[in-house]
Amino acid sequence: MAFLITASARAGLFAEEVRARDPGLDLRIAPALGRRSDIEYALVWNPPPGLLRTLPNLKLIVSVGAGVDGILSDPELPDVPIVRYVDPDLTSRMVVYVVLNVLYHHRRMGEFRKLQAQRRWEYLPEAAAHEVRVGIMGLGVLGAAAAKALGVLGYQLRGWSLGRKSIEGVASFAGAGELEAFLAATDILVVLLPLTGETRGIINHRLLSALSRVGRSDQLPGAVLINAGRGGLQVDADILAALESGGLYAASLDVFETEPLPQASPFWSHPRLVITPHNAAESAPAAIARYALEQVDRHRRGLRLPNLVDRRKGY
Ligand code: NDP
Ligand code: OXD
Repeated sequence: MAFLITASARAGLFAEEVRARDPGLDLRIAPALGRRSDIEYALVWNPPPGLLRTLPNLKLIVSVGAGVDGILSDPELPDVPIVRYVDPDLTSRMVVYVVLNVLYHHRRMGEFRKLQAQRRWEYLPEAAAHEVRVGIMGLGVLGAAAAKALGVLGYQLRGWSLGRKSIEGVASFAGAGELEAFLAATDILVVLLPLTGETRGIINHRLLSALSRVGRSDQLPGAVLINAGRGGLQVDADILAALESGGLYAASLDVFETEPLPQASPFWSHPRLVITPHNAAESAPAAIARYALEQVDRHRRGLRLPNLVDRRKGY
């Protein structure tokens, strides 16, 4: 049995951690596959399309990411189970990113940074947390954990998902029919959706127009968008237009349709945008290795696999 890692830049880091835990494992790191028929397990991040199909004895795919759009987009993907990455390490990183960015915009830090650069001692009115309505699109593992942390800080919470949820302190909205109602009372929108056929391009002009209106009070100058889901969820031009028109007060974007974000992108220089390089929650190599080896072990012992991807739903 051989175990393949195909994860471009970070493959070496994952391999080191896997070796430390299982020195006897027959480990292959793409593109050095060796005899392909030996490979039964693969740990992958955006594998080259067609590669997995060439492994005749592949039994299980473990995703380095919580999101599996980069795997499911392979038109020749073999019909084996896919386990996505779910781990407290990743969840905690995402919760920190979301809380950081909600606080940053709620407390108008972008404006304070500007005032500081001008050496101006100026007061800006601020809403209390309980006056700010945070809406979370995607109430799965990450969205639900973020809601819990924001609840501790006292924010008003609502969430949108495919199925209705029962999470204490979070008003639940479900399905396309309830999206407008969800958006209509959202000041800060946090997007933690997977990229699927249903969600591609969902952060568009229509959605941004439905967000809470600008100038709800002088304490909350307008709606805020925080996208840590996937770049394919957003229409870049519509976000820029909303920032220009004032429909959006500010945004934090961690993910982009093209990554790395091209040098020529107007996003880089927009004064009310906070940009991070898809590292809202970067999976730690040690945690990934432990998780992947656990799944291999479970599969070999015929145990139930957790966090299985539903290919029909796309996540
Ligand atoms: P989950 O699968 O646990 O949750 C996904 C949520 O989205 C669920 O609540 C689901 O609804 C909801 N959803 C899916 N499709 C729709 C739809 N069409 N309409 C409404 N709701 C929908 O995923 P995670 O929370 O673990 O991760 C979410 C995403 O975050 C990942 O897919 C990935 O793209 C991104 N991510 C980004 C990272 C980064 O560093 N920027 C790091 C890790 C993840 P329901 O519960 O009803 O099924
Ligand atoms: C992701 C991840 O899905 O890093 O982006 O887990």
